[in-house]
Amino acid sequence: MDIFKALLLTFAAAPGLWGYQLRPRDAVSSDPYPFCNPAENKNCICGGKYLVPTLEFSLEDSDGDRAFNEYLLPHSFTISKWNNGKMPERCYYWGVTADHWNPTEFIIYNVTFDDCTFSPSVVCWHPTAPKNVTQIATEISRIPAKLRQSISMYLVYGDLDSDNTLYNGYMATFAADGIIIGRSGAYFATSLVHEMGHGADSNLVSPDAPHPGSGSAFSSTSAWQTAANADDFAVSAYGAGSYTEDFAEAGRAVLLDIIYPGGLETFTNNNPNLTQITRQLGTFKSVAGDFYTPGGTCDPAYKFPFPAVLVDVAPATTSSADQATATLNRQNGGSTYTGPTACGPGYTCSNVK
Ligand SMILES: *[C@@H]1O[C@H](CO)[C@@H](O)[C@H](O)[C@H]1NC(C)=O
Ligand SMILES: *[C@@H]1O[C@H](CO)[C@@H](O)[C@H](O)[C@H]1NC(C)=O
Ligand SMILES: *[C@@H]1O[C@H](CO)[C@@H](O)[C@H](O)[C@H]1NC(C)=O
Repeated sequence: MDIFKALLLTFAAAPGLWGYQLRPRDAVSSDPYPFCNPAENKNCICGGKYLVPTLEFSLEDSDGDRAFNEYLLPHSFTISKWNNGKMPERCYYWGVTADHWNPTEFIIYNVTFDDCTFSPSVVCWHPTAPKNVTQIATEISRIPAKLRQSISMYLVYGDLDSDNTLYNGYMATFAADGIIIGRSGAYFATSLVHEMGHGADSNLVSPDAPHPGSGSAFSSTSAWQTAANADDFAVSAYGAGSYTEDFAEAGRAVLLDIIYPGGLETFTNNNPNLTQITRQLGTFKSVAGDFYTPGGTCDPAYKFPFPAVLVDVAPATTSSADQATATLNRQNGGSTYTGPTACGPGYTCSNVK
């Protein structure tokens, strides 16, 4: 039995591309802030320190995830299946070129949310995904329309390891492409709030927003970095990994503050250390608070566009023997997998035979 770490850690792979990556955790250190060691990681912010007691909002069914499920109600949507033998080029790129799934196996759907009727989202769904398109769309529909509009495509595959070492096969946002990709089990409320935070960072509040695909991000500006440096504590352990992750984590905290009765203070049972992240939350709210407010509809000026470039999905050219190998590798977690196998505190792990 191999244990695979499914990370919610992301950092910038390139401007506008945010991918989950493997990083070792120090599980036994007595250092209260062991997560991001500035001596080993030049991306650490705030000297690697983060808010303690921590905000319990990372895992599925954590306090934060349950709050999002309770206070962000699903919107209705309609689903229609493509039958034109095509898929969005960006789904092809991330799913097939980068991750080696068989293009002919994907099923492509328009999902039209009732608060964003002028521009459907696209779900590129692989049949290895245990969650069906209705379940995936229901999770996505909880995200406020004005935040959800930062993304237009979702690539969904099975819950076993993918070939994409860039984000360890768990979940990632490639904001410049307007796409979230991930295993179906990673599609739950709080992970989507975090991922959409990357979409907001690049596509809604960056200095040149709205300009999908520009590659710049608000988290790269001095406005954000000054706030984080002045607070001198990241919003969370992940957040300590980079300004980019800290911004996405601040989005979770701000959304909880907006939707939770009594706000973040009540959610945290009056965590006395909340003042350590005041500047970040204030800055975040001033630039992005409106996008994180439930209600309303997508805005044509901000909605990440429906994919313009489609590709023909040609019949598979690999031999059946090649495909059997690829399938087997996925089922045993990948014969070439050499990454860490320990599951750090606060992270989701899958046991894969
Ligand atoms: C508040 O943060 C400090 C670090 O600045 C920490 O030492 C202290 O234990 C935290 N308070 C609580 C109640 O956890
Ligand atoms: C999907 O949405 C696009 C953009 O609105 C539209 O052109 C296309 O016909 C839709 N396809 C299906 C199958 O609904
Ligand atoms: C999707 O899964 C749910 C839950 O198992 C089920 O109720 C529903 O009928 C499924 N929908 C489709 C379109 O398969």
